[in-house]
Amino acid sequence: MTMPQQAPLSGDKKPTASSTTTSKLKALIADNFLAYYKAHTFHLNVTGPDFAQYHGLFEEVYDKLWEWHDTLSEQLRQGGDMYPFTLAAVAKMADLKDDAAGVTDCTKMIAATCSDLEELLAEGEGVYATADPALETVIGDYCADVKKLCWKLSATLGKC
Ligand SMILES: [Fe+2]
Repeated sequence: MTMPQQAPLSGDKKPTASSTTTSKLKALIADNFLAYYKAHTFHLNVTGPDFAQYHGLFEEVYDKLWEWHDTLSEQLRQGGDMYPFTLAAVAKMADLKDDAAGVTDCTKMIAATCSDLEELLAEGEGVYATADPALETVIGDYCADVKKLCWKLSATLGKC
C-alpha cells in the first residue's frame, strides 16, 4: 500500500527575500553594528564635568542598537541568508565610516552619533520601502526607535 503524498506545509518552503531587500538589510545590519560599536566607544571614553550625563546617554544608544543587531540579523536568517561569520565581513558590508578614533570632545561625540543615527534612519526607510509585510513591521519599529534616539541627541546638541 502506498501512502498518499502530502503537500508540503508552507513552513517547509525555504524562505527567500528579494535580493534588493537582502542587500539593503545586510548594509543596515553592518551599519547598525558599527554605530553600536562607536556609541559604546564614546560611552567608555567620554570625560569631563558632564561625564555622568553623556556616559548614560551613549549607553542608552548602544543598548538599543545592540538589541536591534540581533533582531535585524534574525530577519536576515528568516529570509534565507546566512549571517556573516567574521567581523571583517561585517565591516566590508558597512557604509558608515569607522572614524571614531581621536574623537574626545563630548559635543563632537554626540554630533558623530547623531549623524550615524540619521544615516541608519535613512537606510531603515530604504529597507522598509522594499520589504515584505512582516519585515516592514520590524523595520518600522526599528525606524521609530532610531528616530527617538536621533531626537534625544539632537535636543542635547540644541538642534531641536
Ligand atoms: Fe558601561
